Amino acid sequence: MSNFYEEIGGSKTFADLVSQFYAAVSVDPLLRPMYPAKDLNGAAQRLQMFLEQYFGGPSTYSEMRGHPRLRMRHANFHINPAASAAWLSCMEKAVNGLEIDQSKKDQLWRYFTMAADSLINQLD
Ligand code: HEM
Repeated sequence: MSNFYEEIGGSKTFADLVSQFYAAVSVDPLLRPMYPAKDLNGAAQRLQMFLEQYFGGPSTYSEMRGHPRLRMRHANFHINPAASAAWLSCMEKAVNGLEIDQSKKDQLWRYFTMAADSLINQLD
């Protein structure tokens, strides 16, 4: 029985997605200061585990971090529409850089736009 996680290439594809995403975050003037100063590896691991679980892969994220509760976990970050748009712009580059069918990219993109919108917690 196949699922979306497997259809797009499993862990390898998510590692690729997340590494391209953080390469973009690391040079984004609005986003970079919000993330851990030293290195982004921990953040990259957490996002990769979360996305793998969300799209039908191993549930390592919840085993290590508990229930995702993304809104709660983002409450301490100042996420206004500009920050959400910057996050999406980094993710757009990462999704476009994957070697998967356009219809699969569209599916990922629909989720990311919805999720980034739902995490806005400030209007300025
Ligand atoms: C809307 C703009 C967003 C901003 C500015 C933002 C920012 C951040 C920051 C600064 C962190 C802490 C990094 C760390 O883990 O050390 C974080 C964590 C995280 N973010 Fe976001 N994020 C955004 C959207 C999203 C979206 C759309 C998702 C999911 C699709 C997501 C998933 C996560 C996950 C899974 C973590 C780690 C949570 C944990 O286990 O502690 N974020 N985010």
